[in-house]
Amino acid sequence: MKKIVQKEQPIAKEQVIRLLLTLQEDAVAAIGESNEAIDELRLTWLGKESEFAKLASCMRTVKSEDKQQIGAVLNGVKKSIESALSSRHVYQTSQASSSSDWFDTTVPGDLPPQGHLHIVSQAIDEITDIFNKIGFTRVRHPEVDWDWYPFESLNMPHSHPASDEWETFYIRYPGVPGSDYKKQKIVLTPHTSNGQVREMEKGVLPIRMINIAKCYRRQIDVSHTPMFHQFEGLYIDKNVSIGHLKGVLDYFAKHCFGPDRVTRIRPFHFQFTEPSFEVDISCGICSGKGCKLCKEGWLELGGAGMVHPIVLTNGKVDTKKYNGFAFGWGVERAYMMKSNTNIDDIRLIYGNDVRFLKQF
Ligand code: DAH
Repeated sequence: MKKIVQKEQPIAKEQVIRLLLTLQEDAVAAIGESNEAIDELRLTWLGKESEFAKLASCMRTVKSEDKQQIGAVLNGVKKSIESALSSRHVYQTSQASSSSDWFDTTVPGDLPPQGHLHIVSQAIDEITDIFNKIGFTRVRHPEVDWDWYPFESLNMPHSHPASDEWETFYIRYPGVPGSDYKKQKIVLTPHTSNGQVREMEKGVLPIRMINIAKCYRRQIDVSHTPMFHQFEGLYIDKNVSIGHLKGVLDYFAKHCFGPDRVTRIRPFHFQFTEPSFEVDISCGICSGKGCKLCKEGWLELGGAGMVHPIVLTNGKVDTKKYNGFAFGWGVERAYMMKSNTNIDDIRLIYGNDVRFLKQF
């Protein structure tokens, strides 16, 4: 700013006032835009060497009758500059804190959302581990298969009413020209039992397999979904008895559901086992005494039985030397029966609602 006042020169009232008001205008505008430190700005605009100080010193030379008026203007200008300085101070402080590069590295960060295995994958891993410990190896067989494997190879001739029960999805497929009837129709497997003859066809005995796979049936309600999972155990060796089957069932019940749980087998009918059983597990709530949930103390787990000789023959196993047992249960169903899960509708498992899934 150019010098406007020469020290000690007498100066007219109007001129002083005009200079003061111009100074006020310049100062307020300059302070508002400046990034200089507040102390520097104060020195520039109100310090000893400032134009304001020089104008203030004019008070000594102005006429005494003008002193009061000039004094009032001087005070007003000073107040305006002070208030411009203090608002600039507030602004600079807030800017300084928001644009600071510094951050505290010791403050714990926000965890990014982390997923985990789906409840069914967890169940599959757990079931696989339990059976691995007694020598059953997890195998995979097709989930889309020739209908021979889930039906006819298992002693269910095509016209047999037993095949209706599965509510099967058929794939539109013209069949393999010139091939035998085993390669004519393709289905989405309605159960993992299709793996039985497929495993026997590998030609390696004894067999201790656990086949865990997706299955499909045309059903949907609280306890059924069109796609679900089963685990199928197959044990083929010499001199296998129902006692061995019962031992494996109890072993599984204790390891999957808890040490106090036991199983019972009830006579039933399946085309591919003889004798056949339904397997129940003692209720975890009343320990087999009978309660509201189970009624009679038992919950139904799935099917089992001694492998039918026709099935063994279809798998080219010598029935004079070998026999075995098989069982097949739903993965979701077994998991829902664990007392700590409290899942009362199987469809929740496939609803993909994260609020539900993250509980497991
Ligand atoms: N596959 C049968 C079903 O889906 C369950 C079953 C019953 C499997 C008896 C077996 C068995 O291996 O021996 O209902």
